[in-house]
Amino acid sequence: SLNAGADELYIDQDRRNIMNLILVGSAGVTVAGLGLPYIYFFFPPSAGGGGGGVSAKDALGNDLFAKDYLDSKLAGDRSLAQGLKGDATYLIVKEDKTLESYGLNAVCTHLGCVVPWSAPNNKFMCPCHGSQYAPTGAVVRGPAPLPLALAHCETAEDGKIVFSPWTETDFRTDGKPWWN
Ligand code: FES
Repeated sequence: SLNAGADELYIDQDRRNIMNLILVGSAGVTVAGLGLPYIYFFFPPSAGGGGGGVSAKDALGNDLFAKDYLDSKLAGDRSLAQGLKGDATYLIVKEDKTLESYGLNAVCTHLGCVVPWSAPNNKFMCPCHGSQYAPTGAVVRGPAPLPLALAHCETAEDGKIVFSPWTETDFRTDGKPWWN
């Protein structure tokens, strides 16, 4: 009958849908299988040192070495390097011309502009909505609600500058780090 014919049509359609699901499913597995080695190739888990550290890089992607870096900068300098997850991160040269033990993520905690360092004002000053941060990254003027995120910064045995995640108390607020 006409009805039986329609049922058969629906069954065929269901079968086709199931086949499509199976095909899509196996394609998904294949992509995941290819994707994981790809991810590990570009982001090896231990790049630049243990504990989730990564070596600081210049704008061209070259590893930064502490000695060369410090030779090229003045005391008090705050310049950008590529840090954890590729985030723009300030390296800080202390008055004694050693590296500060922390770097500052340059992303404004208001709406995410990259915040430039203003040496004449001795502050980070966001051009987007006027937030200001102290040399430590503490907020001195809103609308930024939170200090600039911290990363540990140290010199590895091979001389490279290495950033690693900051999970301890935020020394500027005495609170938990907001970025973890
Ligand atoms: Fe920096 Fe708004 S994004 S003040």
